[in-house]
Amino acid sequence: MQTLAEVRAAVERLALPERGTIGGRLTAAADGATFENVSPRDGRVLGLVPRMGAADIDAAVAAARAAFEDGRWRTLTPKARKRILFALADRMEAEADELALMETLDTGKPITDSRNIDIPLAIQTVRWYAEALDKVYGEVGPGNAAKLSIAVHEPLGVIGAITPWNFPLHMAMWKVAPALAMGNSVVLKPAEQSPLTAMRVAELAIEAGLPAGCFNVVTGFGDPAGAALARHMDVDMITFTGSGPVGRKLMIYSGESNLKRVSLELGGKAPQIVFADCPDFDAAAEAAAWGVFFNQGEVCTAASRLLVQQEIADEFMAKVVEVARSIRVGDPLDPATRFGAMVSREQLGTALRYIDTARNEGDRLLLGGRQVRTDSGGFYLEPTIFDCVAESSTLAREEVFGPVLGALTFKDTKDALRIANDTIYGLASGLWTGSLDRAMTVSRQLRAGLVWVNGWDACDITMPFGGFKQSGFGRDRSLHAMHKYADLKSITFTVRDTNT
Ligand code: NAI
Ligand code: MG
Repeated sequence: MQTLAEVRAAVERLALPERGTIGGRLTAAADGATFENVSPRDGRVLGLVPRMGAADIDAAVAAARAAFEDGRWRTLTPKARKRILFALADRMEAEADELALMETLDTGKPITDSRNIDIPLAIQTVRWYAEALDKVYGEVGPGNAAKLSIAVHEPLGVIGAITPWNFPLHMAMWKVAPALAMGNSVVLKPAEQSPLTAMRVAELAIEAGLPAGCFNVVTGFGDPAGAALARHMDVDMITFTGSGPVGRKLMIYSGESNLKRVSLELGGKAPQIVFADCPDFDAAAEAAAWGVFFNQGEVCTAASRLLVQQEIADEFMAKVVEVARSIRVGDPLDPATRFGAMVSREQLGTALRYIDTARNEGDRLLLGGRQVRTDSGGFYLEPTIFDCVAESSTLAREEVFGPVLGALTFKDTKDALRIANDTIYGLASGLWTGSLDRAMTVSRQLRAGLVWVNGWDACDITMPFGGFKQSGFGRDRSLHAMHKYADLKSITFTVRDTNT
């Protein structure tokens, strides 16, 4: 699949999944309802997807509960569970091309990104947690001769995962893989914009030998399907990536139902700070542009606030604009494309409204700002850069979740930190400096869950990922994610002295 013609031919051959999976069976909605799945590439309908609701969620949770209670998964030996998760990863790898096509058709992201980033990282995530599952140790307490205490990690039970459309399979696996690795059952509600890869991977899990009911995929809209999952009295935890308003609702649903645990990853307004002593201006300019334009800006860690030290601002912004100008908005199916369509008409509309607001508030447009490729029927927006953004302006404060960069200037380190931390969010952040002392000082004072020094988006599955402040709480990736899907149980053995 090196050329557009080859990719188009592969799309013709592609069979799209049509059902969710409940209790190990391919399943339509209980009431037979469906919805049209639209491709942002050309606005055309790809197919019909089950529009599941509360009744389907009930069935999926019941299947997940039954699987958890009878221990068909959690009581297998670690070796046996590992073998099944590896088999799943192998099947995903064998179908990587098809999964990548589905991801691109569903989301509008470049096929080259789906093939090189989304699908390989989703597979790597499954393998990483499969490898890790017999390396999670408990603790032995200090105790004494008459008492031995141990703390063991026990799976929570039924995990409800509600996931977004920007990295559909990758984000789903960040949650599903560690949850399964710890012995839980999972009910996944993928985003309605991009359900295909989750639907297919649930089928592959059955083929891989995952016992029925351990991994269920219920397709449908946030309300009713996601809400029914989050309100369910028999779900032990909701793990979520998505918007702040929905994150708030999930906490309310928890309080109104069974106090299920909630873990939230809610996006941000990430600052990328470029100091005048930056060791590599070309690399920083690349990172400034691609940090926000990667995946059409639809990234929770998008570097949407660029903070540049005053004395280098003009020169540096010229470099950033040069990089951004070279980005061609193209057909997501073309392997040459690095910047594709936005996920939906709604998301495009939101970004265009933010562009209007920025103009009206006096931010200076340096590049882009227009919808393009309208003949395609798809949802395309140019990479857009605003300069001279005031700290109080909407573009400096609100998450666009689109390819819109706002650049601000600062005087000194103190000023940079003040501006960087002046946000309700705290997910990603980054800085460019040649000074080790400055790098250490600033990275410890940034109020964010991720800090990247002299590089953007530079860490991987081995490190925890998640936010401070209103970017949410709980961590994906790393061994910490496994602990999130477990409870700690303290067991104390009272020892009678057998010598007496
Ligand atoms: P959203 O938060 O509505 O959707 C995310 C997931 O939540 C989807 O699976 C959706 O079906 C589900 N959902 C929606 N309402 C729900 C409810 N009442 N109960 C349970 N589940 C519910 O996000 P949306 O509308 O797709 O995008 C809007 C904004 O959200 C974006 O502009 C962006 O700012 C943010 N977002 C952030 C993401 C991140 O990576 N942190 C990912 C996607 C969106
Ligand atoms: Mg879609």
